Amino acid sequence: MTSYCKISLKPLTAREAKAGYKAAALRNLFGSNRVSPNLPFSRSEFFQSSRQYSQGMSISGVQQKLSLKVNEQRQLVPTSSGGEYILKPSPEAYPNAAENEHAAMRISELVGIETAKCGLVDFADGELAYITRRFDRLSRGEKIHQEDLLQCFNMPSEGKYSKTYEEAGKLIQQVAGGKQAVVLDFVRRVIFAYLIGNDDLHLKNFSVQRLPENTGRDYDRLTPNYDCLFCDAFNDGSTEQGLGQLALGLLLDPKDDDEQFSDAHRHYGYYTGIDFIELGCRLGIPEKPIQKFIDQLHHKQGDMIELIQHSFMPEAMKERASALLENRLRALGIIALKS
Ligand SMILES: Nc1ncnc2c1ncn2[C@@H]1O[C@H](COP(=O)(O)OP(=O)(O)OP(=O)(O)O)[C@@H](O)[C@H]1O
Ligand SMILES: [Mg+2]
Repeated sequence: MTSYCKISLKPLTAREAKAGYKAAALRNLFGSNRVSPNLPFSRSEFFQSSRQYSQGMSISGVQQKLSLKVNEQRQLVPTSSGGEYILKPSPEAYPNAAENEHAAMRISELVGIETAKCGLVDFADGELAYITRRFDRLSRGEKIHQEDLLQCFNMPSEGKYSKTYEEAGKLIQQVAGGKQAVVLDFVRRVIFAYLIGNDDLHLKNFSVQRLPENTGRDYDRLTPNYDCLFCDAFNDGSTEQGLGQLALGLLLDPKDDDEQFSDAHRHYGYYTGIDFIELGCRLGIPEKPIQKFIDQLHHKQGDMIELIQHSFMPEAMKERASALLENRLRALGIIALKS
């Protein structure tokens, strides 16, 4: 039986299968294929040390994480400063979240969104954990300036669900000095979240970056994509598949500062391609590049389903992820309201 690389999800040769990784994928993530992907600590040791190391750590978020660096023995070890990697094990309440996030991130990359480098590594007791390489560090350890959208809005963390994507897009347009490519990238990420059923794409899950050579105030781009999940695939078969939920409202109704649903949404009862084209329109993005992105998603349907198949998610999770993706592709394919 073919096995697949725990970083790239590409098929492994019989020799590579022992290690579980392709050498090129290890080099791509860790800078060398001699770094050991086997963590020198167990899952429970993680939960002890994450408390010790997380104090003062700049990476926030709900899930427990640990900052890691590569030591002289080429092992991945916890560190309180100069971390190059972030380790996220599956939380108790969400088994296989690591495998789920890894698969979702690979698909983000497949559809042409710039995506954080990531992979799966083994705890000493065998369970898989998700690891990502920090994108806010230069090779010599210097920090790249970045801010998440909640910080850009100047709001406290309770506010992370309190805006619409339309408002988030307008803010990005503003802080990026009107760069249309950055706004289009944002719209693509919202469409992608809908495609995979990621219902937690809130304001802290978008960040903007200023490149080191930029001495001005405008941001250059969004950071690579992060925190992608097939959220719906955590439910077991007993719950109905979500009908088009997103973390934030899509369009803004300026009259009451709440979500405005399109005629199409009222007609179908869920978001369709029409809604995302309308979002683009309100953000000054022509219909054509959005339509092109949606076409590409349809074009890549087979490859996406294959990636899900080759991922490390359990069978039931793969099935739910694939079924949802196929439904969402159908919804995104609707670009005109039937009369
Ligand atoms: N590869 C990366 N490089 C640099 N910073 C990152 C990277 N991945 C995530 N971050 C930062 O760390 C924060 C937390 O990460 P992430 O969103 O993956 O965690 P989380 O606990 O799942 O978050 P949430 O609060 O959305 O549940 C992000 O908001 C982002 O600012
Ligand atoms: Mg997050």
